[in-house]
Amino acid sequence: MSKITGVILAAGKGVRMRSRLAKVLHPVAGVPMISHVVNAARASGIERLVVVVGHGREQVVKAVADDTIQFVVQEEQLGTGHALLQAEAAAAGSELILVLCGDTPLLRARTLEKFIDFHRDSRAAATVLTAKMENPQGYGRIIRDDQGDIVRIVEEKDATPEEREIREINSGIYCFNGEVFGILKHVNRDNAQGEYYLTDVLLEYRKNGQRVLAVPAAEEEDIYGINDRAQLAFAERILRQRKCLELMLAGVTIMDPATTYIDAQVKIGQDTVILPFTMIEGQTVIGENCVIGPGARIISSRIGDRVTIDNSKIIESRVGDGCDIGPYAYIRPGTELHEDVKIGDFVEVKKSVVGSGSKIPHLSYVGDAVIGRRVNVGAGTITCNYDGEKKHPTIIEDGAFIGSNTNLVAPVRIGEKAFTGAGSTITRDVPPFSLGVERAPQKVIDNWRHRRKKHDEE
Ligand code: UD1
Ligand code: CA
Repeated sequence: MSKITGVILAAGKGVRMRSRLAKVLHPVAGVPMISHVVNAARASGIERLVVVVGHGREQVVKAVADDTIQFVVQEEQLGTGHALLQAEAAAAGSELILVLCGDTPLLRARTLEKFIDFHRDSRAAATVLTAKMENPQGYGRIIRDDQGDIVRIVEEKDATPEEREIREINSGIYCFNGEVFGILKHVNRDNAQGEYYLTDVLLEYRKNGQRVLAVPAAEEEDIYGINDRAQLAFAERILRQRKCLELMLAGVTIMDPATTYIDAQVKIGQDTVILPFTMIEGQTVIGENCVIGPGARIISSRIGDRVTIDNSKIIESRVGDGCDIGPYAYIRPGTELHEDVKIGDFVEVKKSVVGSGSKIPHLSYVGDAVIGRRVNVGAGTITCNYDGEKKHPTIIEDGAFIGSNTNLVAPVRIGEKAFTGAGSTITRDVPPFSLGVERAPQKVIDNWRHRRKKHDEE
């Protein structure tokens, strides 16, 4: 396949998105639209990839750059034909040019493979991938002759009312032989939009007596192009359905795919159960035999095996095997929970390490802490990690017991198997095996109720 160059057109502004972000960078299933196209091209074995950038090009390059992609700049967006021409030098020597658009996130490798095979087997000079659309609005229409051969493509803005009735549309995906750049130079911009239409190259091929074909895509949804945010939401839904299906077929139970949102790159192990109203985002990896949800949101985190996460949010953290989280826990970036950790209700943990078997069961804030193994953190414990200027660490060693409602004023260290008394504000280190208690001595006023009663009666 090394003689194929894939050229992805992605210089357009995408006006209908009404966005400051370049259209091809809008995420679908957590990944920029254009990355789905790059991935499909890669997976179909195309090694040489050229991306034509223009609008928002710094952002686009940054989002998709890897060593194997060449970028070429289209300074002025003069149309799709002009865009492809910019790739001439980068594609030199290729015998097949596969043209793709950056705004078709539903494209899959298998659709491209079938299309390329068709083009090769038919020995055509140019082949366009088409689809029959219920609503062809906005797309170029495929004009065929009485024999059924493609004659040309007419853009909607240039089409007659009869031509607009045609349901077969141009996907914007083509295979061309290596002569396409030479032939493109004959295309003019004599049309409703004053642009160099890539579609017109087909006419030039035909003028030269070369074979031009149009073939419908095996799976039409693959070529769905995104122009506005309603279409974006449509693509999002399809990708989400595909992801859930893929996971279910691989052994993940998803109780309600309609209310489950799993990004394209997420990995989930066998026999894990995903309950409704759950979002799993970014590069998250979840192990086997977990129960996730209902109402979990997990972002770019690594979750072990046998973990339960109930109605909780976890961001950029690691959760070890056998942990039990929630309901209503909030695990913030940089947290690392070792095995069998319990993080209970209304507990927030930020940038902290919690050793195996430790428990923070209720109503606590733990930030910038390193907690050892089998530590029990009582209800209402707060690490006072911020002095208004800097963040300070709290260290709690193995087997320590933090009494309920302890304030740990950082920097502070609680030694191995040490205790803190409930309600204490701990400002100094507590050595191993010791008790740190800070409390005003309790007063008991005898018979207080009777005395008050007397007072009340007076
Ligand atoms: C184009 C096709 C149309 C097809 C449709 C499929 C032409 C003339 N029309 O129309 O037949 O049905 O795609 O979606 O080709 N681009 C550039 N530089 C430019 C213009 C566009 O790089 O100067 C890129 C865009 O970023 C986009 C792609 O080319 O990724 C298609 O451009 P767009 O403006 O969306 O084309 P359509 O009007 O949809
Ligand atoms: Ca256009």
